[in-house]
Amino acid sequence: MRRLLFTTALVGGAPIITLTSLMILGELKKGVGFVALGICISFAIGLAWFWLSGVVRLSAALRRAADEEGPFSAPLPIPRLPAIGEIEKGLARLTRSLQARAALVVQLRASDGAIVESLPDPLLVLAPDRALLRANRAARRVFNLTGEGQARGDVGALLRHPVMAAALDRALADGTPQAVELVLPGSVTRELSAQIQPMQPPLADGGKLVILLTDRTAARAVERMRVDFVANASHELRTPLASLIGFIETLRGPARDDPPAQERFLGIMTEQSERMRRLIDDLLGLSRVEITEHQPPEGDADLLALLYAEAAAMEPLFAARGVRLVLDLPEAVLTASPADADQLAQVARNLMDNALRHAVHEVRLEAGPAKNGARQGVAFTLRDDGPGIPKEHIPRLTERFYRVDKGRARGAGNTGLGLAIVKHILTRHRGQLTIESEIGVGSTFRVWVPGG
Ligand SMILES: Nc1ncnc2c1ncn2[C@@H]1O[C@H](COP(=O)(O)OP(=O)(O)OP(=O)(O)O)[C@@H](O)[C@H]1O
Ligand SMILES: [Mg+2]
Repeated sequence: MRRLLFTTALVGGAPIITLTSLMILGELKKGVGFVALGICISFAIGLAWFWLSGVVRLSAALRRAADEEGPFSAPLPIPRLPAIGEIEKGLARLTRSLQARAALVVQLRASDGAIVESLPDPLLVLAPDRALLRANRAARRVFNLTGEGQARGDVGALLRHPVMAAALDRALADGTPQAVELVLPGSVTRELSAQIQPMQPPLADGGKLVILLTDRTAARAVERMRVDFVANASHELRTPLASLIGFIETLRGPARDDPPAQERFLGIMTEQSERMRRLIDDLLGLSRVEITEHQPPEGDADLLALLYAEAAAMEPLFAARGVRLVLDLPEAVLTASPADADQLAQVARNLMDNALRHAVHEVRLEAGPAKNGARQGVAFTLRDDGPGIPKEHIPRLTERFYRVDKGRARGAGNTGLGLAIVKHILTRHRGQLTIESEIGVGSTFRVWVPGG
């Protein structure tokens, strides 16, 4: 209302003052003067109202154009006065171009987000105070992040790692990109190489540091495995090979004309070659397991089905050794998940083979649902009534080529890789192997894997 009065005064002020002055000076008759004044005032009010309503709608449209990001929807006011009409047309053009640009920005932002999200390597964006602002899909998988925006668990450990923390300090202080290599301890030790890019100016979301990580764990494991394989294999193969060479020389020399000795030596040679073949098979098996160790398994495994199948396959061996295999398995369904059924079957096979070899009368196989801390899972246990394992050996049993009674085990044709393979498979499954043993009573090997 105040605005209307003010505008009316502006529009009609000059003629009203003129008419009033003329009337006061007696130059204009009062009757005519009042009529003219009335016409002037009504005209001024009408004009002011037209202008004001146009201007009010114009400013509303301007505000909307400034605030809106998305599609522009509201219609523009109809022009009432020529000058305002022109301004309104200009505003409509401006709004359309703003709208087109806003759409382009939204599109660009979405495509940038999609590219970052689908990068195969983990990418993290940090605020200047090192709070985690963004983590792409690969990073969320590697660092077990369920939601975005919080530095939790593994990612916290990464950012606190001294090598990483120092590199972040340098990047923030100098504004120069940094590249570092680091080893991150955890349930699976990870070897990472990190590229840190400081952003100047900061990203739209306040991101100051972009960290691109490359997981070198698998590549390094392959490298180490190659070195280990050569060292271990050559060491373990040397004994049977030396014996084979010895017998070949004997067969060519002293035993040339001694058919019974030849027969005996050939028997031993077959055994030694068989041992070499088994060793090579086990080493290759171990390498295969190690290569996949850092990729969690996919799918489910029916634990009871695989235990029954392995028990049935081992039955003749138990019978041959005169050892009873007692199955104490529940009716319920036990599903290991995520799990690789073939690998879990190998775990059961290796443990059953050990139990059979050490048992005197009986081996018991039990299974059931089990919790490991707060984690839901399934477990199976193999108990034997063998000689037991001295305490000091238990922590080392899963090392490659580790045997409690070296001479005896080697003589029996064992490679000492069975439990190493079990350990690697369980690491991959984020499972657990527990060994309990009492001398003269027996040993218990318990396997827990996630599932339900
Ligand atoms: N049930 C058991 N009772 C007593 N000792 C055991 C038992 N299971 C394993 N061991 C000991 O642990 C060692 C390592 O076992 P592992 O299965 O790794 O190798 P291995 O059985 O000797 O050879 P492989 O399994 O490769 O044929 C064995 O040599 C044995 O000394
Ligand atoms: Mg074994």
